[in-house]
Amino acid sequence: MAKIAPSLLAADFANLERDIRMVNESQADWFHLDVMDGVFVPNISFGMPVIKAIAQHAKKPLDVHLMIVDPDRYIQTFADLGADILTVHAETCTHLHRTIQGIKAAGMQAGVALNPHTPVSVLKEIIRELDLVCIMSVNPGFGGQKFIENTYQKVRQLRRLIDKHNADVLIEIDGGVTVDNTAQLVEAGASVLVAGSFVFSSQNPKETIHRLQQLANT
Ligand code: DX5
Ligand code: ZN
Repeated sequence: MAKIAPSLLAADFANLERDIRMVNESQADWFHLDVMDGVFVPNISFGMPVIKAIAQHAKKPLDVHLMIVDPDRYIQTFADLGADILTVHAETCTHLHRTIQGIKAAGMQAGVALNPHTPVSVLKEIIRELDLVCIMSVNPGFGGQKFIENTYQKVRQLRRLIDKHNADVLIEIDGGVTVDNTAQLVEAGASVLVAGSFVFSSQNPKETIHRLQQLANT
């Protein structure tokens, strides 16, 4: 079963409780939370106080995507806030193995995100340690961008790497996910689909999540 993870980056921040309730009541599997620092990516999103407020209302796992430099500084903080999955960018971690061990030691599932230009092969020696790999299908920093078509072949490569090492790793796709690419992504091997603007700018977000969920599981 492929999972759907709506990204709250595209929610209405003035009506966050309403949007969280919608996701709670929908067929979504996780909440995807995008943390940006204005250094690793050219945008700043939200931080700890907002995540604390989200965690009080969210009834599904919190999938936290850190787009920040030196994420090691905040691993315990995100565990305390209630993150279930913590994903760091390979490009920000000099000692990625240590960071992954730190996330797991703090009781969370560990993910690594790859920018569009970063090859899947950087994970070869660490794949068995991971719970999730997030393939960025846009350049991180903003919602509402166009899906990069090269993603499909990257997903297939990652699926081969995972199978070759007999690893148990979820493949997450983040950026530009819509009803037009969901089925093809799952066919290529994706297991979690993040969708922000496509869900929240639709007329009926709950129904949109349902459509994505159906396409991901047919
Ligand atoms: C981009 C974020 C994504 C973003 C996806 O840097 O990591 O999670 O919210 O938004 P859409 O679905 O609008 O591309
Ligand atoms: Zn994200």
